[in-house]
Amino acid sequence: MRSRDLVKDVLKEITARLKPHIPRASREAQLLLMAHLDVDELWLITNQSQHVENLEKLYEWVERRAQNEPFEYIINSVSFYSEDFYIDRGALIPRPETELLIDEVVKNISNSDAKMTFVEVGVGSGIISVMLAKKFPNAKFIAVDISKDAIEVAKINIERFGLKDRVELRLGSLLEPISEHVDYLVSNPPYIENGISLESNLSYEPQNALFGGVVGDEIIKKLLDEVLKRKINFFTCEMGYDQKGRITTYLKNKNYKQLNFYKDLSDFDRGFTIGL
Ligand SMILES: C[S@@+](CC[C@H](N)C(=O)[O-])C[C@H]1O[C@@H](n2cnc3c(N)ncnc32)[C@H](O)[C@@H]1O
Repeated sequence: MRSRDLVKDVLKEITARLKPHIPRASREAQLLLMAHLDVDELWLITNQSQHVENLEKLYEWVERRAQNEPFEYIINSVSFYSEDFYIDRGALIPRPETELLIDEVVKNISNSDAKMTFVEVGVGSGIISVMLAKKFPNAKFIAVDISKDAIEVAKINIERFGLKDRVELRLGSLLEPISEHVDYLVSNPPYIENGISLESNLSYEPQNALFGGVVGDEIIKKLLDEVLKRKINFFTCEMGYDQKGRITTYLKNKNYKQLNFYKDLSDFDRGFTIGL
């Protein structure tokens, strides 16, 4: 075994390789090595003289991180609502603010044992349907996505959480694949204005998960049309921080009982629930 394969030396080497490319190189080096060895921080600190195996794979990860590929895609793992989900470039990396959408739905349903049918449009990695299926054990879920790759990622997570019998995946656009009665619609649709320039790490994420149309809110409006047409009891949806005004205007003179907007932890408008 060569001395440069020791934890302390490998950490130095990764930090040096990352430094010219990304900020916080030393912290990122620790995180990559912890993921590679499947150990926690305490282990890493107290085992500096252990040997590191399979350096080739580790240095391939380091190279990808140096190119600004998101950490979650490299290690195929993401934390959402304190659970570990599988993730790859087929689906959007779940964002922490989407945890608030789960809380909003929970607030709206007084009986968590209710037998109801949820539909999610834009399932992505499956985080929303999986978390809600865990919270509502008698509910059935139909989760739609227009992307085959996203459906593959969601399938892995639905199996990981043992929810195959209650969360059904369907490939298609919006509510086109749904003919059954829907009690509750949820969605975190693409809502960014087409063509807006984004940070470089976002270029690794599926672009049809990000961009929602010329204005950005087109998919949200189409979903609202479906909710009103199909008389879906509740619809909770994430949106862009600047879309509250246009959504309120769009719903003017339409027939519904309640419309509540919610904010994210930075106090930006982030979503709404409409009830019929
Ligand atoms: C912002 S991502 C949300 C993913 C996941 N639900 C989450 O919250 O992390 C939006 C998802 O909507 C999907 N999508 C885009 N247009 C769609 C459409 N017309 N019908 C169904 N899904 C669509 C994308 O493929 C993507 O997976």
